[in-house]
Amino acid sequence: MYYPEEVVEEVRSRNDIVDVIGQYVHLTKKGANYFGLCPFHNEKSPSFSVSASKQMYYCFGCGAGGNVVSFLMNYENMSFQEAIKVLADRAGIELPEESMSEEAKKKAGERARLLALNKDAAAFYYKMLRSPDGQIGMDYFRKRKLQKETLHSFGLGYAGKNSAVCRYLKEKGYSDQEIIKAGLARVDEKRGMTDRFWNRVMFPIMDVNNRVIGFGGRVMGDGEPKYLNSPETPVFDKGRNLYGLNVAKKSRKGYMIACEGYMDVISMHQAGFTEAVASLGTAFTENHARVLKKYTDDVRLTYDSDNAGVKAAMRAIPILKKVGISTSIIHLEPYKDPDEFIKNLGPQEFQKRIDNAEDSLLFELHVMRRNYDIGKPDGRTKFEQAMARRLALIEDELERANYTEAVATEYSIPSDVLKRAVEQARVMSVSADGHPVADSAVNTVKTQERRPDQKKKTEDGLTKAEKLLLTYITDDPAVYKAVKPYVSAEDFSEGLSRMAAENLFKQLEADDFRPAAIISMFDEPEQQKAVAEIFNTKLDEGLSVAEREKALTDLVIRIKRTSLGRMNSGADLIERMVQEKKIMEKLQTIRISL
Ligand code: UTP
Ligand code: MN
Repeated sequence: MYYPEEVVEEVRSRNDIVDVIGQYVHLTKKGANYFGLCPFHNEKSPSFSVSASKQMYYCFGCGAGGNVVSFLMNYENMSFQEAIKVLADRAGIELPEESMSEEAKKKAGERARLLALNKDAAAFYYKMLRSPDGQIGMDYFRKRKLQKETLHSFGLGYAGKNSAVCRYLKEKGYSDQEIIKAGLARVDEKRGMTDRFWNRVMFPIMDVNNRVIGFGGRVMGDGEPKYLNSPETPVFDKGRNLYGLNVAKKSRKGYMIACEGYMDVISMHQAGFTEAVASLGTAFTENHARVLKKYTDDVRLTYDSDNAGVKAAMRAIPILKKVGISTSIIHLEPYKDPDEFIKNLGPQEFQKRIDNAEDSLLFELHVMRRNYDIGKPDGRTKFEQAMARRLALIEDELERANYTEAVATEYSIPSDVLKRAVEQARVMSVSADGHPVADSAVNTVKTQERRPDQKKKTEDGLTKAEKLLLTYITDDPAVYKAVKPYVSAEDFSEGLSRMAAENLFKQLEADDFRPAAIISMFDEPEQQKAVAEIFNTKLDEGLSVAEREKALTDLVIRIKRTSLGRMNSGADLIERMVQEKKIMEKLQTIRISL
């Protein structure tokens, strides 16, 4: 269901954020804002703030933030539409009837039918597991030491030996076509329509909103394939969904564990490690990584300790790195997988392994080492040179130095020798444009590694001043008049920051100050959070007017200088120097007075 912007805005503005959040969190007034214990992370002293004038919330501890709509979405795990419905109800606003195109309606209808069908099928398998026909399945799960509560919370089931689910779904009114489309039946010329899954224990796959989107089924005994999964369907996109994420996203440990499969996730959750997820029947993709990035930037891999597991981990590391997630490896030796490990050594030992997860770069080097005969001087030299080349790819100087130090210690290489080798490898691989060029052996790792680093640096530098200024203005809209002669939205760096500035300034020009409405302009929860942060940066408290003026003047100069520098960057050197001088002169004239 799509609601027009005015409707969304009416619903938002008629639900006071202090009232709504006050129903969930105990808030105390402190200065202009309300404070309470953050419901999005564990804390002992309140850093969760709610502002009545901005109609926003923001946590200085974990960065959670947004408006009243996104609060409900995040706290109650609602979709946008659901949150709007609840808030409309609360404020007594009648929402308009559906206004979708026929095409869109049909598609939404089809998806809804498939989801309902999957849910019915899951309920069917669930019941069958608990019936006399499901005894084999129940015995299997008992053997795997799953507790009743676990069977229940994962909705585990059993598919019997005859075409039972098809029959059941038809009785429920689903068409053959729908059952086939959902991937629960196959058609075969001789036998007609038959169940895809039979004689398998069933793992319903849920999306982040707890809707059943597909199934995995493990064969009883030794048949092939061991795990059979639903095919991709209009509601099941394997490259985007992670098993267990519906639960893991609430675990708030600050990191997530990625593992290989169903049983790994389930046994970890059962042992209390509810932060575990798995990609399903496919390799880890960039989309998986992006999904995870919404919840964490620290992912610990616990793949099987065989060759295939190491390979899968080596593939996943650069993919995670690319989206800005740092990765480490949980070692399970002497056991094969988390399930076995926990059964043998218990959760406390497992937690130790999580805490001691190996940094992914050091892990890469360990894997690399297998290719060299380091017992011989020649092999050892080649290995050390390869390590130097790998270390040379680290862009950040401090990071490079720290890793170089760590590697020197671990492999007993004199640290100044390794350091020089790394610097040399850097010089050797730097191209005319000043960027290191690809080394064939580590090509893939490298190109993927450079981008996020560089981007992050510039972003951090710029947006801090921008965020501060935007926060000053939202805290006290009078500031806008004072800075307006000097800065405009175009001076903000491209992306969220500029969009936020543009919209905020537009509101202020129209004397219509509603910063919380700007949050609703973004669809992605990550963006909403980022915008909330832009308007809620921590400011120094208790400054005198003169101090505030000075702080604002500095901010404006910083933003302006960067902006002018950006515009000037295309010109040639002489031209640039002339411009540079003009810019400096211009900046010196800036004086903000409140
Ligand atoms: P494993 O073969 O390691 O499975 O495959 P497992 O989880 O240890 O299985 P058990 O303990 O013998 O029951 C890891 C994951 O790869 C996928 C599944 O998601 C599985 O959990 N897989 C494996 C398939 O999709 N199809 C297969 O045939 C095998
Ligand atoms: Mn396994």
